[in-house]
Amino acid sequence: MLMLTLSGSWLGAARCAASSWPATRLAHTLPDLPYDYGALEPVISAEIMQLHHSKHHQTYVNNLNVAEEKLAEAVAKNDTSTIISLQGALKFNGGGHINHSIFWQNLCPGGSGEPEGELLAAIQRDFGSFEALKQRLSAATVAVQGSGWGWLGYDKEAGRLRVATCANQDPLQATTGLVPLFGIDVWEHAYYLQYKNVRPDYVNAIYKVANWKDVADRLSAAQK
Ligand SMILES: *[C@@H]1O[C@H](CO)[C@@H](O)[C@H](O)[C@H]1NC(C)=O
Ligand SMILES: *[C@@H]1O[C@H](CO)[C@@H](O)[C@H](O)[C@H]1NC(C)=O
Ligand SMILES: [Fe+2]
Repeated sequence: MLMLTLSGSWLGAARCAASSWPATRLAHTLPDLPYDYGALEPVISAEIMQLHHSKHHQTYVNNLNVAEEKLAEAVAKNDTSTIISLQGALKFNGGGHINHSIFWQNLCPGGSGEPEGELLAAIQRDFGSFEALKQRLSAATVAVQGSGWGWLGYDKEAGRLRVATCANQDPLQATTGLVPLFGIDVWEHAYYLQYKNVRPDYVNAIYKVANWKDVADRLSAAQK
């Protein structure tokens, strides 16, 4: 009896896995937040976090999956003009998915304190001090016109940290060659409900919930 149940469910699982394999290979999923929606308060409200994660990020994920399915169909049909026309949707939604997945991990409840060790040494070498980095990154991020992101990135060729902002929709690494380490989302959906039009207050407050340990891990991975 037990054997039957086991083999029955094993067969079921195997059939399931086989038939859903192509979809699973393509499908991106919304990553769980590593903390609760309210955990970054008062710097970022639970309402913003919930909308930002469960609606905005989810939409990038859904639209990326749709674009990838269409791409697979077009490739199968050797339909070059459709393949080309999908590039914008792939970049935009893929970029949004990548950016937000990094952003959630760049933050943590209460922040992780100040950068230490190799990350701190690199910041001091390339910006003078942690204070100077924050000033540079904030100024650049506040000045982004319309929707966008401010980034601290790692330039692998030069072996140094850089601050970058991107006006277009391309993901950071594809456009600038910089490995993204720490991003600040300054689309209005990231702050407007709480900070209204005062973007500088949001940008300056975000360091209180910055996870420099995550940034340090990204830097050491990029240096390998
Ligand atoms: C795909 O289409 C191009 C022209 O659009 C053609 O040159 C090529 O041979 C096609 N490839 C296949 C595998 O049908
Ligand atoms: C992702 O970040 C890059 C780099 O800043 C930016 O160009 C792009 O617009 C962002 N994508 C989205 C959908 O936010
Ligand atoms: Fe966002």
